[in-house]
Amino acid sequence: MEKIVSLCKRRGFIFQSSEIYGGLNGFWDYGPMGVELKRNLKDFWWRRVVHERDDMAGMDGSIIMNRAVWRASGHEETFSDPMVDCKNCKARHRADQLPHKNDETYCPNCGSRDLTEPRAFNLMLKSYAGPIESDENLVYLRPETAQAMFVQFKNILETSRKKLPFGIAQIGKAFRNEINPRNYTFRSREFEQMEIEYFCRAEDGLALTDYWLEERLKFYEDIGIPRPKIKIHDIPDSERAFYSKKTYDLEYEFPFGLSELEGVAYRTDYDLSAHIKHSGRPLEYFDDEKKEKFVPHVVEPSAGVDRTVLALICEAYDEEEVADGKGGSETRTVMHFHPRMAPVKCGIFPLLKNKPALVEKARAIADALRPHMMVFYDEAGAIGRRYRRQDEIGTPFCVTVDFDTIGENGPENADTVTLRHRDSMQQERIPAGELKDRIATAIF
Ligand code: GAP
Repeated sequence: MEKIVSLCKRRGFIFQSSEIYGGLNGFWDYGPMGVELKRNLKDFWWRRVVHERDDMAGMDGSIIMNRAVWRASGHEETFSDPMVDCKNCKARHRADQLPHKNDETYCPNCGSRDLTEPRAFNLMLKSYAGPIESDENLVYLRPETAQAMFVQFKNILETSRKKLPFGIAQIGKAFRNEINPRNYTFRSREFEQMEIEYFCRAEDGLALTDYWLEERLKFYEDIGIPRPKIKIHDIPDSERAFYSKKTYDLEYEFPFGLSELEGVAYRTDYDLSAHIKHSGRPLEYFDDEKKEKFVPHVVEPSAGVDRTVLALICEAYDEEEVADGKGGSETRTVMHFHPRMAPVKCGIFPLLKNKPALVEKARAIADALRPHMMVFYDEAGAIGRRYRRQDEIGTPFCVTVDFDTIGENGPENADTVTLRHRDSMQQERIPAGELKDRIATAIF
């Protein structure tokens, strides 16, 4: 994991938030490469679950909602982790994550067994809306995006004119005051979720849960996380939330162990019923054909953006022994991102930076590609070193403009470039005019 963390900092994927002031535990910033990777992931999720489907509608809700939402959803009462304090060093820990020795738990900080009894610690981050810090003005930063989709169910149903089954999708920030943020970005206090609430008739709930599990596995495959790398954990009755009739956790083998990426939960009609009860508003669905009114059930595939980004980074990271061109070998660090996730799609290099004709042509190619994809123009250092820099950020294609391209070696190769493939390191000669279509097909 240290090598991954170091590469992420060195190459501009992830930085500690407020780093120059010592950071802030549980908060992270995404640098130039990280933000591209994250956007590629979110854009592809949105395309898959909203644009490519007829039964989905998107929304973007506010982070702060009326406190009544969190009373109705049960978060104010029960969204808590058990917490203990160490009486010796005063550190706070999650009671369910304490290490054991001879059947006794101890403080992972100082080793003391002198711990308080566990007590519930609510994970919602608080603030105040308005100038007075009163109980009346107390608000929470949302701990999940889901609730906005339940409370806007009726508005979205009416404005989108969808019929059951249909879903609402949302990507957005969520906040949890985690007692022990850990494992890099895996458990943060500020993170993003990609959530779907898929509304249906009660009799379809279980089958649709299996359907969405399959859809989500296909999604992970299509972003470069193969199916065998994801373990499906069918949560037993005793561990599921009381309102859920079925929940699958999708787990990925991170360097720190098998951990949850996403949950696909059949939440029955619990959420809409709770909001009907607390708001007094009718959130029922009326079936025109059957002349029936009922509270829809819901299946919720809920994924973490940051956890998926971390899984993409872990899955892509590789060190390979390759020929160094001088008869020996060297270690190449390469990120094997799926081309559609890669932050930069194409590196563009003039063979030499002191030949204006090469520079001009390479810049013109970069400018022609820019409206279609993220490219990186680089003229510094030997070509081999430029390839290695792109390998480290996972750029799937590199283009070199040489003397053939500018017609100095005769007309036959004029306007052709070398296209180098990251994974095989193979190079081919193609007309510069074909670059856009060749790369666009791979990254779509
Ligand atoms: N609406 C359901 C819900 O929020 P969850 O299992 O608590 O369910 C869904 O969260 C997903 O959000 C998780 O599978 C995970 O990917 C992500 N997530 C939850 N807590 C997180 C945290 N502290 N840091 C990063 N991601 C988190």
